[in-house]
Amino acid sequence: MCGIVGYLGNRQAFPVLMKGLRRLEYRGYDSAGVALLTNEGELHVYKTKGKVADLEAYVSDKDISGTVGIAHTRWATHGEPNSTNAHPHISSSGKLAIIHNGIIENYAVLKQYLQGHGVTFRSDTDTEVLIQLVEYIKNTKNCDLLTAVRMTLRMVVGAYAIAILNSEDPNQIIVARKSSPLVIGIGEDEWFVGSDASPIIEYTDKVIYIEDNEVAVLTRGHNYKIVDIHNVQIDHDIQTIDMDLGQIEKGGFPHFMMKEIFEQPECLSKCMSGRVNVDIDNVVLSAVIDHRDKLLSAKRFIIVACGTSWHAGLIGKQLIESYCHIPVMVEYASEFRYSNPPISSDDVVIAISQSGETADTLAAVEMAKSKGAFIYGVCNAVSSSIPRATDTGSYIHVGPEIGVASTKAFTGQVTVLTMLALALAKEKGTIDENEFKETVEELYAIPDKMRKILGNNPRIETIAKIFTYAHNFLYLGRGFNYPVALEGALKLKEISYIHAEGYPAAEMKHGPIALIDEEMPVVVIATNNTLYDKLMNNIQEIKARNGRVIAIVNEGDTRVSHMANEVIEVPATKECLEPLLAIIPLQLLAYHIAVCKGKDVDQPRNLAKSVTVE
Ligand code: G6P
Repeated sequence: MCGIVGYLGNRQAFPVLMKGLRRLEYRGYDSAGVALLTNEGELHVYKTKGKVADLEAYVSDKDISGTVGIAHTRWATHGEPNSTNAHPHISSSGKLAIIHNGIIENYAVLKQYLQGHGVTFRSDTDTEVLIQLVEYIKNTKNCDLLTAVRMTLRMVVGAYAIAILNSEDPNQIIVARKSSPLVIGIGEDEWFVGSDASPIIEYTDKVIYIEDNEVAVLTRGHNYKIVDIHNVQIDHDIQTIDMDLGQIEKGGFPHFMMKEIFEQPECLSKCMSGRVNVDIDNVVLSAVIDHRDKLLSAKRFIIVACGTSWHAGLIGKQLIESYCHIPVMVEYASEFRYSNPPISSDDVVIAISQSGETADTLAAVEMAKSKGAFIYGVCNAVSSSIPRATDTGSYIHVGPEIGVASTKAFTGQVTVLTMLALALAKEKGTIDENEFKETVEELYAIPDKMRKILGNNPRIETIAKIFTYAHNFLYLGRGFNYPVALEGALKLKEISYIHAEGYPAAEMKHGPIALIDEEMPVVVIATNNTLYDKLMNNIQEIKARNGRVIAIVNEGDTRVSHMANEVIEVPATKECLEPLLAIIPLQLLAYHIAVCKGKDVDQPRNLAKSVTVE
């Protein structure tokens, strides 16, 4: 994710743009930049690695005058976060500048084409391809900028919200969008542009939301024009927004955690984008291509992680062992780093970390590296410490996670581990062709199935209200769903401060069963898989002791539903993918219980998003 902001009017643009960027910083903060056009039509572009504050410090001695400008805060996808890859990007002539939020999927082929026609590139980004192509078309077709933008966008596959400045016309900004958010604010003879309304709301409540494949030309004063990429004129109603800033920064959700729970379908689609190709039943991870031999010859995988990431690792173990036939250990990084385990160059260590900064995980990586292991990172924050310390890796690409209780990072990690297991198994020849095909297709279908579960949110909220009284919870699951029980329990304790334990269901009778009485809610993940009948027995054991069962079942289930006090349905999927669906109701349950108890779900006491100390 990135944040984009633009201004055209009578004020000085720079302060408006910086305030806007700060409001959008939740969307990404690895680098930032601004392009300003002076009254004389001179284009000034300033960009730097780091946050918006770093950009402000960087420009302190520069010319920041101008009443038109665009600015960007980046969350790197293509190209490492540095000042070269930071936006805005400029065309070869230096006359055009662009900011972009999204991913251009066919950028490599477009870049090759342009390079073949003599265009040289400064950055590694997909975005620079856009502005170079616009200029190339403008020059070769001898057309105006709007036509060149439209023609470019017709050639592009991917997602974008863009804003373009042209030093030959300081009275104009051109914006366009497809599958990435963009809002246009209409002031008194002035225009505002934002990834969301947060940079706009303090100046005007009048906005236009353009749709996918539409381009708007905003002209100094109050003239504007919206066309689609085929040049058909579009009329949009001007809307009035009725929101306060706090809400907007959370995208209209009351908490970041809620927003992040609801973002998961979109995040997983992004995570799989360019990697899972359902049309040809293929899974491609560049790390597996680049380090094929090392990964295929590994004698053992060791997963190291903390917290939620460790739970994702437990699922990864089952996936890799069953599909790739390689033994996998899953270790708490904090224990592993001090345990002096035998490690050799035949080992591959997978470090899982949302933040990429967790001190114990980083230390575990360094220790394993010093003993010769090959290190594979599964991280979210691009170019954070852990990815920098690894030999290779796969980002989960779910966007910045702000809520302290991890939600979308968990499902992103499980998705990447699934792709890794599938890609490796295919290379090793350890997976049956039909099984591979079915799993790829089911994985691809997960975001839509998640959306269905999110539609059950009101019902889950009602259930949460019933159980707010509880002081203890037990969460049970088996097989692939045992780590889901652990993660569900962790979510509840993190944000509601209710004591909760996750257990493998059959282990219940070796201890936790002693706790069960009519006060004790037991969440059981009882989807219809190979262990379904066994789980039925566990539920009978709870009911015999008057425990109150909240069951996660597949749609249409009748057997468990008869026994459980409350039932939450999830769509069926392949057993190994069930965690991606079963966790959603548990995230929502924890969220609603915490809200009912009046807790601060985004900033729970004593916790931190990124634990950079031991
Ligand atoms: C903290 C966070 C958790 C997270 C854990 C590991 O405890 O609150 O949400 O799971 O650290 O963090 P990492 O960034 O390494 O995944």
